[in-house]
Amino acid sequence: MDAFVIQGGKPLRGTVRVNGSKNAALPLMAAALLTEEPVTLRAIPNLSDIRNMVRLIASLGCELEHDTEQNQVHSHVVDLGKSVAHYDIMRTMRAGICVLGPLLARRGIAKVSMPGGCAIGDRPVDLHLRGLRALGAEIHLEAGYIVATAPLTGHTPGHRRLRGAKVFLGGPNGSTVLGTANVLSAAVLAEGTTIIESAACEPEVADLATMLNGMGARISGAGTPRLVVEGVESLGGVEHQVIPDRIEAGTYVCAAAMTNGDVTLEDFPTDFLAAFIDRLEEIGIHVQLLTEVDGIRDRVRIISPRRLEPCQVVTQPHPGFPTDLQAQLMALLTLADGNSIVTEKIFPDRFMHVPELMRMGAEIMRTGASALITGVRELVGAPVMASDLRASAGLVIAGLAARGQTTVHRVYHLDRGYEQMERTLLQLGADIQRVDEKQLG
Ligand code: EPU
Repeated sequence: MDAFVIQGGKPLRGTVRVNGSKNAALPLMAAALLTEEPVTLRAIPNLSDIRNMVRLIASLGCELEHDTEQNQVHSHVVDLGKSVAHYDIMRTMRAGICVLGPLLARRGIAKVSMPGGCAIGDRPVDLHLRGLRALGAEIHLEAGYIVATAPLTGHTPGHRRLRGAKVFLGGPNGSTVLGTANVLSAAVLAEGTTIIESAACEPEVADLATMLNGMGARISGAGTPRLVVEGVESLGGVEHQVIPDRIEAGTYVCAAAMTNGDVTLEDFPTDFLAAFIDRLEEIGIHVQLLTEVDGIRDRVRIISPRRLEPCQVVTQPHPGFPTDLQAQLMALLTLADGNSIVTEKIFPDRFMHVPELMRMGAEIMRTGASALITGVRELVGAPVMASDLRASAGLVIAGLAARGQTTVHRVYHLDRGYEQMERTLLQLGADIQRVDEKQLG
């Protein structure tokens, strides 16, 4: 296992290009199962979650080429007979569940292991199943596997096809991102019209709708809570460019601001980050637009003051403040001049970074789904343990700003979502090294 050893206190300076979005790419790769024609996806980040998704799709009868130089994945379904998503791959990531909708829609049958993923609290799949059942699927659980079949059509013996329906995807904490991706991917091949109410509005879901429409689907309302899908008989191949990763972008913004640096970001998705930028302004950090491209691939410069103001943040479904930037912003607020409150409305237990930040001298009091952060003058480097992807990112940012040495253990969590983070940070002037934990003694 690897760890990062960081000597803190170096301001980050330079330019970073934001990579393609992990959370957009994963459901797009699964959607390739909806056609037997070739699908090419561009701007695919080189991450362990992506490599696991490649393995998963390959195990489902798809020929794939993952070109890590060009950041592309070419896929082509050649065998419709393999419809079992096995536990050994599914346990590695939550997004594996995205194959359920496409398999069911195209093959009429799917057996998919319950997925794994980051330990950020309860992560049920009831809304996914509710949505697919509304489309006529018969679903039961069998030894940790979701076994789903589409209804027989009656036209051709043995032919199965989902039926369009009204589907409501709201849950106790809002809609569901991957659940919307699953039901949307299933509805495109269903017979008749599907209306998805309380659909997730995240840009990653809108990107999926764009790709599916490029394959011949008829989806309207992408990016809004009401998706209308006119089912079609079949879909064709497509070439599609994945949107930039708003969470990676936001992470580097926090790192730049916390080290008092001067960083320019290219391919910065300004339009996806309105709530985040709003909170930054409150803290006193300015995202200066250098070149406006299209609101999705802009060039911006991060300007941060020496004194950070405290603020209140509530995570919410998009377009609210993203839960996936909560840990990184909290790291930043540990150095603000006053009291901040962070409330987590998506995953109420997503606070694994709190005790680790406190090891570095942060003053944080957690009560339920909120944390009160009292800003301190400085953080002091310490050994800390990464527990999940975004918590790890928060700890690295804290380590970059802390006095002395921070060792972030178990960085395999980071490798799931950030492409060679240490190289990017090194290029920006950070003192960071990846080491084998065994070398640490
Ligand atoms: N929920 C249910 N029932 C369901 C599904 C979800 O109650 O069937 C609840 C969850 O427990 C949570 C809320 O609904 O309280 C939202 O969960 P959602 O389903 O939207 O999360 P997800 O689709 O599993 C994606 C991202 C996460 C991100 C969340 C929220 C991917 C691969 N994952 O997960 O990203 O935090 O949306 O925006 O897209 C990450 O990248 O680090 C990460 C965890």
